[in-house]
Amino acid sequence: ATTLGASAAEKGRYFGAAIAAGKLNDSNYVTILNREFNSVTPENEMKWDATEPSRGSFSYANADRIVSHARSRGMSVRGHTLAWHSQQPGWAQSLSGSTLRSAMVNHITQVATHFRGQIYTWDVVNEAFADGGGGGRRDSNLQRTGNDWIEVAFRTARAADPGAKLCYNDYNTDGINPKSTGIYNMVADFKARGVPIDCVGFQSHLTNSVPGDYQANLQRFANLGVDVQITELDIAGSNQANVYASVVNSCLAVSRCNGLTVWGIRDSDSWRTGQNPLLFDGSGNKKAAYTATLNAL
Ligand code: XIL
Repeated sequence: ATTLGASAAEKGRYFGAAIAAGKLNDSNYVTILNREFNSVTPENEMKWDATEPSRGSFSYANADRIVSHARSRGMSVRGHTLAWHSQQPGWAQSLSGSTLRSAMVNHITQVATHFRGQIYTWDVVNEAFADGGGGGRRDSNLQRTGNDWIEVAFRTARAADPGAKLCYNDYNTDGINPKSTGIYNMVADFKARGVPIDCVGFQSHLTNSVPGDYQANLQRFANLGVDVQITELDIAGSNQANVYASVVNSCLAVSRCNGLTVWGIRDSDSWRTGQNPLLFDGSGNKKAAYTATLNAL
């Protein structure tokens, strides 16, 4: 096939992009989106600060715009994200303990209920593990509500939207390392105790290389009985095209890898300003990385 989405679909996968509601009137952007991608992730529009700017008052217009653009064109949606230490509204940042815990549960219930039936995968919890050698949790206001906050988040999401695939999502988890092993142990424990979890997302914000054990890492999670997804792929550096091909090949080699999402469309859309880590240049032209990706699919 001649597009990323159609080629991925031939292999039973999706190929997605993170998109911004504010760019849906940019015709260059939308032309590429509609031609190449069959999945989207709202880049910011479903985060806590966007969906519940004041406590108990929900704001869905921008997220709804993305979901309706996607679904009317047959694209699936990754919901990102229900519980995260970052991009919380100010009112939540100042809460703690059982008050914060109830606010989190209510937030998840409300948002997942609003979008019930429309989301292929939810990133239920994002970036809850610490970097470095310890393999433990990151400190955050949510973590300080008790170590069980992650399983509570997953159970709450399952109750609100039973048809969605529920994912744990993180970065610096691409290879087998203490952080990814900490997450691996959590997933194994959840599976053993019946805590609902369906997949693990690997953000894959990379520069010039991908760990040699990337595929083996995806496979060890798949072997626990969860799907895996490449959720926020972007790759800086001169070896970009080769690394894109290698990431695609790794996903295709793991039968439980459902698909890949790039974190933006054009280099000018990237959060990694000046690093040009995406598949299209600022004018929307296909880069060498695009061709390498398409050829690998
Ligand atoms: C980034 C967005 O791309 C930016 O627009 C925003 O200012 C900050 O967040 N990990 C994640 C994403 O899970 O939500 C982040 O997105 C990038 C890192």
